[in-house]
Amino acid sequence: CRRRRPTQKSLEPIQMGSYAHWKGQVLTAEELNVLYEGIKLNNVNHYDYILTGYSRDISFLETVVDIIKELKKANPSLVYVCDPVMGDQGAMYVPENLLPVYKNKVVPLADILTPNQFEAELLTGRKINTEEDAIEVMDLLHKMGPETVVLTSTDLPSKQGDQFLVALGSQKIKKPDGTNTDQKICMDIPKVDAVFVGTGDLFAAMMLAWTHHHPKDLKTACEKTVSVMHHVIKRTITYANEMAGPGKRPTPAQLELRMVQSKADIENPTIVVEAKVL
Ligand code: ATP
Ligand code: MG
Ligand code: NA
Ligand code: MG
Repeated sequence: CRRRRPTQKSLEPIQMGSYAHWKGQVLTAEELNVLYEGIKLNNVNHYDYILTGYSRDISFLETVVDIIKELKKANPSLVYVCDPVMGDQGAMYVPENLLPVYKNKVVPLADILTPNQFEAELLTGRKINTEEDAIEVMDLLHKMGPETVVLTSTDLPSKQGDQFLVALGSQKIKKPDGTNTDQKICMDIPKVDAVFVGTGDLFAAMMLAWTHHHPKDLKTACEKTVSVMHHVIKRTITYANEMAGPGKRPTPAQLELRMVQSKADIENPTIVVEAKVL
């Protein structure tokens, strides 16, 4: 479990509709270094992709940065996908002192960044009230480092109505001749009235996978990512409602993402959400 753990000692639930109990240990920077030493000693330190998510300790995050720098030296074409997990809906769920580390050290190393609206606002110090704001924030994030930025969810109004949430993406690719290509897209995602755990992780993982297949085609990578999300969430809510019975809200246990059952959709999603090029 990786999210919404208030502190290491007291693992109290803080979000309605999510798990009531959170357990586990916070790995220290020292412990991470020991694992990394083992990887180096065995010569298995060649990676094409690194994906990071929830972290709540400064020295751990700084060690992650050091390790990624080394791994990028070993493989200059390594792609670092950073989900800068800090909070949601106006509240931080990691210590505030992680923000400057993300801003100054982590984001500059990232190739692909998947913040939600609140995290993008924290990183840039800009509020997002309009699509223009979102575009400006994504450009500011590009200036900090990553050539691909996806705002995985925003509360911007959707043209399709209030049953949709809006996600936006931006890709700025430096071509060998020195010129830039710039693609900006926007997606309306059908909202499901339930709280899921692991959707942010699945989104970041799918961005990694589909960017691998479509490295210079943000529109297709995002459409496939969001379509996978849709298929998994649809299968999950259908099953959960069935288990809960008529008129009853599903429990968090019934809302566990139906990942294994969605294998075929994850590998080859039917496109159900089309991205609009801005
Ligand atoms: P992070 O996990 O990094 O904080 P986030 O807050 O954007 O990022 P989620 O809120 O889990 O992560 O949303 C990620 C994606 O999951 C959304 O883009 C959407 O595709 C899907 N998703 C999550 N919850 C729902 C929901 N209730 N209805 C429909 N889609 C959802
Ligand atoms: Mg969210
Ligand atoms: Na996100
Ligand atoms: Mg989330």
